[in-house]
Amino acid sequence: MVLEMIRYEVKDQIAILTLDRSKALNALNRTIMEELSTALDNIDLSVIRCLIITGAGEKSFVAGADISEMLPLQKEEAELYSLWGNQIFRKIETLPIPVIAAVNGYALGGGCELAMSCDIRICSENAVFGQPETGLGITPGWGGTQRLARIIGTGMAKQIIFTAKNINAEEAYRIGLVNAVYPSSELMGQAETMAKQIAQNAPVAVRMCKASINEGIDLPITEAIKVEAKHFGNCFSTQDQKDAMTAFLEKRKPDAFKNQ
Ligand code: CAA
Repeated sequence: MVLEMIRYEVKDQIAILTLDRSKALNALNRTIMEELSTALDNIDLSVIRCLIITGAGEKSFVAGADISEMLPLQKEEAELYSLWGNQIFRKIETLPIPVIAAVNGYALGGGCELAMSCDIRICSENAVFGQPETGLGITPGWGGTQRLARIIGTGMAKQIIFTAKNINAEEAYRIGLVNAVYPSSELMGQAETMAKQIAQNAPVAVRMCKASINEGIDLPITEAIKVEAKHFGNCFSTQDQKDAMTAFLEKRKPDAFKNQ
């Protein structure tokens, strides 16, 4: 797969996807979005157990959707543009394996929305989050009005979106938009450490957990627990479950999980 603006690297069972359009602070134009989509489609899920998404350089994760591409859009085109971007971010959200956003600077508009489509967000001390769209005469269009409210609650999401005021890393941590803040030099190391911790657990179980949380979160609790029961049951058809429980009862460490 030859990609111009995406770097894709595999380290054992972890993949690192770097958005690299440095001259525009990794702003998402159509090319980089299509490349992101292609890269996601080509992840070898038989090997990779966790994906990290980050931006090239030390200044920016992603500075939003490309404003020059949006300027000329008419009503119907803009609606399609929103659906198109949302469908690509939804690939991240529904990717069977966990995805960590390592936010290394600006995460504005589409950049914040990209981070929010990931399962877990950690960031550097210089990270800046925001949804500046109302200042550009538009709503967020790639999931911002929906995921921000789901992650941090409607009151704070409405404040951030209506005011278009950016927040720093400390504030993002305080309101639960990110799970942790690190010095820039430590961010990728911390992301990889977390990814390795995830990768050492039973792969089918981890996938079932992601599916269970995602599928259940918008359901009434009586339905949601049935979703959990289904995924719980699925784990019992794996060899990894039998092996790990046997090892526990025999008071020994389990062998490495086989993803079976
Ligand atoms: N689209 C297009 N180009 C962008 C861009 C964007 N979102 N963000 C940055 N760039 C470009 C700049 O135009 C500039 O290009 P030139 O060197 O050719 O002039 C280059 O990146 C560097 O940017 P700045 O000179 O502005 O850098 P700075 O350090 O002074 O400011 C910044 C950094 C605060 C992030 C500023 O670039 C900025 O405000 N960017 C726009 C952020 C934004 O509004 N994003 C939301 C877009 S709307 C959206 O995403 C809608 C949606 O939901 C789908």
